[in-house]
Amino acid sequence: MPVVEIENLTKDFLVGFWKKHPVRALDNLSLQVSRGEIFGFLGPNGAGKSTTLKILMHLLHPSSGEARILGEPVDSVKMRRKIGFLPENPYFYDYLTPEELLTYVGRLFGLRQPDLSKKVDLLLETVGLTDARRIQLRKFSKGMVQRIGIAQAIINDPEIVFLDEPMSGLDPLGRMEVRRIITALKSKGVTVFFSSHILPDVEALCDRVAILNKGKLQEVGALEEILKVRIEGHEVILAGWTDETLKTMQETCEEVRPMGDRLHIRISNPEQMEAVLKSVFEQKLELISMNPIRPSLEEYFFQEIKDSQNSRRGQNS
Ligand SMILES: Nc1ncnc2c1ncn2[C@@H]1O[C@H](COP(=O)(O)OP(=O)(O)OP(=O)(O)O)[C@@H](O)[C@H]1O
Ligand SMILES: [Mg+2]
Repeated sequence: MPVVEIENLTKDFLVGFWKKHPVRALDNLSLQVSRGEIFGFLGPNGAGKSTTLKILMHLLHPSSGEARILGEPVDSVKMRRKIGFLPENPYFYDYLTPEELLTYVGRLFGLRQPDLSKKVDLLLETVGLTDARRIQLRKFSKGMVQRIGIAQAIINDPEIVFLDEPMSGLDPLGRMEVRRIITALKSKGVTVFFSSHILPDVEALCDRVAILNKGKLQEVGALEEILKVRIEGHEVILAGWTDETLKTMQETCEEVRPMGDRLHIRISNPEQMEAVLKSVFEQKLELISMNPIRPSLEEYFFQEIKDSQNSRRGQNS
């Protein structure tokens, strides 16, 4: 049974001075998330990601359509106790320390001492803020705020966590930390639904993704399916190469680039692959890596969005 069900959700905001002009933020969105998945919700700015999450959190009412979490309508109090939420750009009262904030949130969920203190210790450890536990949040970096945000979202041991842009504004180390936390949640069986426009993070984490653009679902599925696994060849990296290697490779392969002590080679057919492997054995070269070349999510994303803009232009003319 899916744990998140979204059916034909449409959301129009009324904008302008007289609130008369409808702006469609979500257009007939339907999707389902299964238990235990890491589900990535992708889309450029203004795609409708936060709007969807706010509807799921019962912070906004849809204009039409329906959503259910754990089989219950989004206004169910019983269901709410089993989920966690990290809003986009979270703000917490910043004279509190992480310890105080988590103790406060824990009490809201009915935790009492001594369990509460144990839970707070464990969470601070999980998100790597044990050393900062008594520092006021106003002194926190963006990465630290994001981590305390995740801690408060999982204090009730939720079955599903909803994270709105958990990596936004984080440096590579901060992003890695958040990735580690998300992977750890999955290994405990927690379903993670997160929105992002940081594609490598999505590529590294998600079982399935949904791509949203201008409120419309563009595609949903495993990343490999979406990218259509168009393997366009392989990139081979060798070390220990000599002038002889360079000569053989240039004679047989498409693209050969020496970079320091490494040789980067692009091959696109089995004959070239055979020639490269033969040299590796005969010339005792070190095979550093051999990776299939496929379009990245970035390339896909740009292409899709360009196509949809072009087709719209076509319709208008
Ligand atoms: N309260 C509101 N009033 C009017 N329009 C809104 C409101 N909230 C969102 N919108 C509009 O709805 C659309 C979707 O916004 P949303 O915040 O859901 O996008 P997003 O995918 O989360 O973008 P981002 O990546 O920038 O966070 C945008 O065009 C936005 O301007
Ligand atoms: Mg958003």
